[in-house]
Amino acid sequence: MSKYDQPPRRPAVVTGASSGIGAATALVLGAQGFPVALGARRTEKCAEVAAQIRENGGEAVVHPLDLTDDGSVADFATSVAADLGDVEVVVSNAGSVGPGVIHEVDTERMRSELDVNLLGAHRLVRAFVPEMVERRRGDLVFVSSDVAVRPRPFMAAYAASKWGLEGLAQSMQMELEGTGVRASIVRPGPTWSEMGSTWDDQDAADVLNQWVRFGLARHPHFLKPSAIANAIAAIVSAPRGVHLNLVEVTPEAPVEDQ
Ligand SMILES: NC(=O)c1ccc[n+]([C@@H]2O[C@H](COP(=O)([O-])OP(=O)(O)OC[C@H]3O[C@@H](n4cnc5c(N)ncnc54)[C@H](OP(=O)(O)O)[C@@H]3O)[C@@H](O)[C@H]2O)c1
Repeated sequence: MSKYDQPPRRPAVVTGASSGIGAATALVLGAQGFPVALGARRTEKCAEVAAQIRENGGEAVVHPLDLTDDGSVADFATSVAADLGDVEVVVSNAGSVGPGVIHEVDTERMRSELDVNLLGAHRLVRAFVPEMVERRRGDLVFVSSDVAVRPRPFMAAYAASKWGLEGLAQSMQMELEGTGVRASIVRPGPTWSEMGSTWDDQDAADVLNQWVRFGLARHPHFLKPSAIANAIAAIVSAPRGVHLNLVEVTPEAPVEDQ
């Protein structure tokens, strides 16, 4: 193979790569030839995903990342650049959600969700986007949620954070126009992951009952994390001149007998 046949090397960062959608995205990007940097607080879980990427012939590194901590995000960016070189793709995926009626949710809980889901995404932008703009190339993908357009009761702090995130992303899309840096939004519907897995059973049942009450659970199917990972891979692999600025992915309903 001559050097002209080789695909360009495009180092990619995935946050929240220790589980769910982030782990699946790291695996898909790794399999497609992107050198991947995995970030999360549980580095041991990221290391398992990185080992799988390497077994499949890909390149992967792991560094600790706490998106609520300015210093941690800065250290992560420095370590990734030292390992992989100029970062071309940033997937802002990490997120957290807790259940609760918002007038009973304390301000600290509200703050902690906004800190990861919204301010954490902004910390990531500050760490990586200025250099992308300077190089006139790069892809930034924000993992939002369908709650950004169809809010659900019992998770108002989360809905506020994702509405905020999409506002930030849409403003950025205009600010970045003509810079060669594409900012995109992926908006998943219900997806199997660790999200909600630490809630107590009563809280989880209350949430699901509220979804049904407001017509927000039309059928019981959830997406696999790989469905979102494939959408993210399609966005960052779109050819120059094409910008997939918003991709909404929802679980298909079970097919009914005729
Ligand atoms: N599952 C769904 O139904 C669904 C639907 C719509 C949108 N989403 C969005 O999809 C994204 C991924 O969620 P998921 O469903 O894959 O859930 P998940 O399995 O719970 O993964 C969440 C990830 O975020 C990371 N994270 C949390 N706090 C962090 C922090 N302070 N610093 C760094 N990383 C942090 C976690 O890693 P550590 O704990 O190891 O730090 C974990 O890897 C989130 O933005 C979520 O809002 C999910």
